[in-house]
Amino acid sequence: MEIVSTIREMCSISDELRKGGKTIVLVPTMGYFHEGHLSLMGEGRKRGDVLVVSLFVNPTQFGEGEDYEVYPRDFSRDKSLAEGTGVDILFVPTMEEMYPEGYQTFVEVERLTESMEGRFRPTHFRGVTTVVAKLFNIVRPHIAIFGEKDFQQLVVIRWMVEDLNMGVEIIGMPILRERDGLAMSSRNQYLTPDQRKAALSLNHSLQKAFQLFRSGERNPRRIIDAVKRVIEVEGEVTIDYVEIRDARTLEEIEIIEDQAIIALAAKVGKVRLIDNVILREG
Ligand code: PAJ
Repeated sequence: MEIVSTIREMCSISDELRKGGKTIVLVPTMGYFHEGHLSLMGEGRKRGDVLVVSLFVNPTQFGEGEDYEVYPRDFSRDKSLAEGTGVDILFVPTMEEMYPEGYQTFVEVERLTESMEGRFRPTHFRGVTTVVAKLFNIVRPHIAIFGEKDFQQLVVIRWMVEDLNMGVEIIGMPILRERDGLAMSSRNQYLTPDQRKAALSLNHSLQKAFQLFRSGERNPRRIIDAVKRVIEVEGEVTIDYVEIRDARTLEEIEIIEDQAIIALAAKVGKVRLIDNVILREG
């Protein structure tokens, strides 16, 4: 595995690969890898000739008072996990390279980013789309892979690629969970054992939603109320939102037709967690 830390070197490698007719796959990450990240890399390995993983804790997607400074980092562990998963190039740009002095250009997807995560983290998606657009310009991948764990992020990125004619194929991968159902996240390690237990209510509440859907409930309001009741039993968990929306456009819906997404965010102590499940038959 090659470690590339300058934009110039990454661009010239990509140019050569493209000239040689190779298919480049990119998996963008902020590091501190868990099985969820590795599943994206595993998929990337299958889909192209050259697998590039970027590791950059992107400051522009963290809001005031969020966890940028304390976001977990462990480069040597990440390096060996990436190597073990068959990554060809680990692209680790520095902050100064990505956002040099005088930096002032941002990519913004409008309506899609106003609700759900965007309502609670108003500058978050602008940072995500900006850094992903930069990574696409630097790595020039044919394919990029994202997790459904960050469902709104995936939808926003698909929309950006379409609107800006970026010509990158976007693949979404299912959420990987711990054995007990907690969605894997780099932030789970902040949880105390009691909080970890309380956090399980998020997955339990989504399972409840799925059961209701399976038994024929199609009214979003009633499903959302049932989900909130499951979570609210846990004193330590505070809900930011629980929403059911169209899975493609993230628009609000009156009634669930063939499929919808139920997504939620909640704080367990100081740790903010998100989870979701796709409601569809079959
Ligand atoms: P990060 O949180 O490191 O996540 C990197 C990728 O892993 C994302 O596409 C995310 O959806 C996926 N992922 C995280 N947990 C997962 C799980 N339990 N199962 C499956 N996939 C999972 O998302 C980001 O970084 C950043 O916003 C980024 C896109 C890199 C831009 O900075």
